[in-house]
Amino acid sequence: MPARLDRRQFLAQGSAALLHLAVSAPTQARSHRVVPEFQVALPVPAVLRAVRSDTTTDYYEIVQREAHAEIIPGVRTPVWTYDGSFPGPTIEARQGRATVVTYTNSLGVPTVAHLHGGVTRPDSDGFPTDTLAPGETRRYQYDNTGRAATLWYHDHSRRDAGRKLYTGLAGFYLLKGDARLDERLPHGEYDIPLMLQDRAFTDDGELDYDHDGHHGATGRVMLVNGAPSPVLEVAARKYRFRILNASNATAMRLALSTHQPLVQIATDQGLLPAPVALSTIGLAMAERVEVVIDFSVYPIGSRVVLQNRRANGPLSRVMRFDVVRAQRDDSIVPQRLAEFEPMPRSQAARTRTFVFGGEPTLGVPPGVHWVINGESFDPLRVDANPRLGDIEVWRFVNRGFMGQTMLHPVHTHLAPFQILRRNGRTPLRQGGGWKDTVAIEDGEEVDVIMQWSGYRGRYLLHCHNLEHEDHSMMVRVDVI
Ligand code: C2O
Ligand code: CU
Ligand code: CU
Repeated sequence: MPARLDRRQFLAQGSAALLHLAVSAPTQARSHRVVPEFQVALPVPAVLRAVRSDTTTDYYEIVQREAHAEIIPGVRTPVWTYDGSFPGPTIEARQGRATVVTYTNSLGVPTVAHLHGGVTRPDSDGFPTDTLAPGETRRYQYDNTGRAATLWYHDHSRRDAGRKLYTGLAGFYLLKGDARLDERLPHGEYDIPLMLQDRAFTDDGELDYDHDGHHGATGRVMLVNGAPSPVLEVAARKYRFRILNASNATAMRLALSTHQPLVQIATDQGLLPAPVALSTIGLAMAERVEVVIDFSVYPIGSRVVLQNRRANGPLSRVMRFDVVRAQRDDSIVPQRLAEFEPMPRSQAARTRTFVFGGEPTLGVPPGVHWVINGESFDPLRVDANPRLGDIEVWRFVNRGFMGQTMLHPVHTHLAPFQILRRNGRTPLRQGGGWKDTVAIEDGEEVDVIMQWSGYRGRYLLHCHNLEHEDHSMMVRVDVI
């Protein structure tokens, strides 16, 4: 078997001189600020207050604007924000009630707002050419008919979504379901969302966005809810963490420094059928996982680091939990969490195959163009047209690019899916729950099954490495 190399190892071996010039020259020319870990307390984004509510709907207003955030202690970093906060405020929604968000664009450039993981009508889904111009105001309506889950909202501009996410345009959107179940689990101040993003800073503390020859913008510092490798003081009891990888291009593998297993209770699209204890959990870009960590197993004074085992050095230390006090805990992790009906392949009306690959582009500097089935994104070309209500199997194939390991997290709008097969085998964990994003590693082939229900109209399938998406690994999906 040929050794699998990551891109830096590959480049270090000098086997692609052209590519090396293209992607490493700008990076080496820059110097980056080093930010010490575990100096800052974990912030939690504020929950946005509705400006009004009626019997069916809660109404919110968000201004997209520039602001300064104190990410590094004592340093003001210019950021782009939803409503002045980095990351954006958290929107809480409830199944069965609609949410209307009125966005005003006070940035100097067009924007596109998208609710990731939502079952959203097409005119509010944020198609990349459906822009909000500078100075404009517009209503987006979310009916909240999908599963209760940890969703998030972020920018979806054509060819510019990567820079806008990197600069700050992202926030949590918690779609809540059965309150009685949520109240048996750790809740209230013991239910905490964690947005993980790696970012690079220049020496004077500005965000340094470098798309790295369209390979993806990475970082030198791990931010959690906008703070560099922060510390959370915890009680010796159970906590629920809703973890989102909102990095542009960095996949992670989460674990605890103490080797205590993480008890996973939910995935992208909400609660699993049953909890599962895992020593590590893979989390690619845009994926979410919810875990329960029981700190009562530690003596007061213990320190537990949440690690990213896919990284080395500072980026491997995501954040730290300091166990500081005893606390009564009547929360539990029920053995049955959610109903789950596996969808059999026999119900599928058809199978569609999408091959994710790259093509080198000539030019100075040379680069790469990311394609699906050999084609770049064209907003006017319909690449798949499922019928409303149809169940389909979609096969995602990762062809790799010039021998490098290249991960593509594949995301469908509108229709969440179940994973049927990975590389010809049934996934190890039966009933792995509902997802909207699935990581496809180099050379892999994954079959998923979904039902195209909710709305007719224009949607997307794309890679959630946002620089791949921007250049231009995305297809238009019309539900007809
Ligand atoms: Cu997270 Cu098409 O988006
Ligand atoms: Cu999405
Ligand atoms: Cu990709």
